[in-house]
Amino acid sequence: MGLDKDMGFNLQNVVPWGRSFDEYCAMFGLSDQDLQQAIVGVGDGPASFNAILTEIGGNVLSADPVYRLNAELIHQRIDDVYDDMVQQVAANADNLRLEKFGSAQALGHVRMRAMEHFLHDFEQGKQQGRYLAAGLPVLPFTEDQFDLALCSHFLFLYSDQLGLDFHIKAILELCRVAKEVRVFPLLDLSHQVSTHLDPVLQELTQAGFHASIEVVDYEFQIGANEMLRIQTILT
Ligand SMILES: C[S@@+](CC[C@H](N)C(=O)[O-])C[C@H]1O[C@@H](n2cnc3c(N)ncnc32)[C@H](O)[C@@H]1O
Repeated sequence: MGLDKDMGFNLQNVVPWGRSFDEYCAMFGLSDQDLQQAIVGVGDGPASFNAILTEIGGNVLSADPVYRLNAELIHQRIDDVYDDMVQQVAANADNLRLEKFGSAQALGHVRMRAMEHFLHDFEQGKQQGRYLAAGLPVLPFTEDQFDLALCSHFLFLYSDQLGLDFHIKAILELCRVAKEVRVFPLLDLSHQVSTHLDPVLQELTQAGFHASIEVVDYEFQIGANEMLRIQTILT
C-alpha cells in the first residue's frame, strides 16, 4: 500500500497493531447478549478480542491476511513498527484522547499487553480454526454464517489507500456473511469523516439493508466516536 503525504499518520502499510478486548466492547457497543453470538472479526490482526472472548466461552473467528504468518513473524512485524507507532501517537497527541492512558508510552504498553495476549493464543487458535488467513473484499464464508461481523480500524480509516469500490465490495461482503455488521471508526487517518461513508450508505440503502450511525462510548481519535451498524435482514 502506498504512502500518502497528507495522511495524519505516516504509515507505509496497514500495520499490525492490536486493541484490547475492552476497547472492542466499547468501540462496538457490545452487550453481554452480543458477546454470546457467533462473531467474526475481520481485520482483527493482533487484537486480543478473540483470545479473551474465547477464554470467557464466546464463539468467535478472526480473519486477517496477516494470519498467513506464524506467531514469531507477526511478533517481529509488531516489534518493527512499535517504536514508530508510539512516536506517531506522541506527534499526533493533539488529535487523540491520550488522557485515559497517560502518555504515548503508556498507551504503547497497553497495546503491547493486548498483542502479547494475542500472540500467546495465536498458534493454538489457528489450529482450532479461530484465526483464518483471509481478507476483504472476498471472505471464505457462507451466507449468514455469523450473527455479527465486526471490522475495526481497517475500513474507512485507510480511505486514501482503499478506494470506494473496495469499500462497497468489502462492506457488501460483510453483509453477505453476517446478519449484522458493525464498523469502527468512520474517520480516516487525517481525522476527517471518510469520503466513502455517504456513497457506502447510499449503496447499502439501495441494496435494501438498514444502516445507521450510532454514537459509542469510545473515543481515542478525537471525533471518532461513531460506528456504522448494518442490519442485513432485507426490508
Ligand atoms: C490497524 S490494524 C487493526 C487491528 C484490529 N482490528 C484492531 O482494531 O486492533 C488493521 C488490520 O487490517 C488487516 N488487513 C489488511 N488488509 C486486509 C484485508 N484486505 N482484509 C481484512 N483485513 C486486512 C491488517 O493485517 C491489520 O491486522
